[in-house]
Amino acid sequence: MKNIAVLTSGGDAPGMNACVRAVVKTCLSKGLTPFGVMDGYQGMIEGRIEKLGYGDVDNIIQRGGTVLGTARSQEFLTAEGRQKAIVHLKEQAIDGLIIVGGDGSFKGATILAEEMEIAIIGIPGTIDNDIAGTDHTIGYDTALNTVVEAVDKIRDTASSHHRVFFIEVMGRNAGFIALNAALASGAEGVLIPEEVTDIPLLVKQIKEQNKGKRSSIIIVAEGDDGGGAKEIMEQVRPFMDGYDLRYSILGHVQRGGNPSAFDRILATRMGGMAVDLLMKGETNLMIGSNGDRLISQTILEGINHSATLDLEKLDLLKDLLTKG
Ligand code: F6P
Repeated sequence: MKNIAVLTSGGDAPGMNACVRAVVKTCLSKGLTPFGVMDGYQGMIEGRIEKLGYGDVDNIIQRGGTVLGTARSQEFLTAEGRQKAIVHLKEQAIDGLIIVGGDGSFKGATILAEEMEIAIIGIPGTIDNDIAGTDHTIGYDTALNTVVEAVDKIRDTASSHHRVFFIEVMGRNAGFIALNAALASGAEGVLIPEEVTDIPLLVKQIKEQNKGKRSSIIIVAEGDDGGGAKEIMEQVRPFMDGYDLRYSILGHVQRGGNPSAFDRILATRMGGMAVDLLMKGETNLMIGSNGDRLISQTILEGINHSATLDLEKLDLLKDLLTKG
């Protein structure tokens, strides 16, 4: 193992820079040459693979986004696209590849590893936290805190105006951000893809909860089966005469911002471990966290399983929302 390339892929996530920095610095300290692939797999196809040094990763641990850039490359899904990528990887004699991204990005890497001789290690990086085999993905903690801060702000105005707010949060098809943000912000309800949405029941609960309160906040996961915040609001409106309803879609603000200390530390540890695994001759592994410990499993295990939301938290939220 001499030349290790790192790339960030899929949606960016706060902490990706801390991870790239750790990969580069660990490589340099062990006498390996680190490379960065610009704009994910698309940059690999286009041959944008650059040698990285200390100066390239200076002053980035605290920055959101990814200095390498990222993309959701359609071309990489084709054999022709991957062949172009392979040519460029060979040109630079890359023998190890570290992919920071979601399970779609890992899938791409496993196909690549079947088509050429290259060792691959996946690091889970997405705000959605929807990867099996890790308690936390890089970026999730920061995004969750961003959401909670935004909900707190909406609470101020909702309370001032006696309003019911439906707040839509990201998470693709998973409810990690929604459920945990609901718990952390004291929301009056949460709609997540993991539970079927029942509009009549929701109306009943909002009315019950709203009694004696100045505001109600319902967190809606973007992947909820009942629709987004606006759709949910429109569905309950006919049954909520006399209530002042509003919705807010938090959107991409959830993906930006300086990573939390938690994400920086997680990303740094995972980046260092990825280089160590490659040096030990390991391949096709995905790093994960289990409590405070870092673990690894085969990438296929990560891809073939779905991350499961802790539904005991949903039960707890329901208990907190049930008036005795
Ligand atoms: O996977 C991260 C994520 O932010 C999801 O929560 C969201 O559904 C999606 O990416 C949005 O993707 P894009 O930025 O490409 O619109």
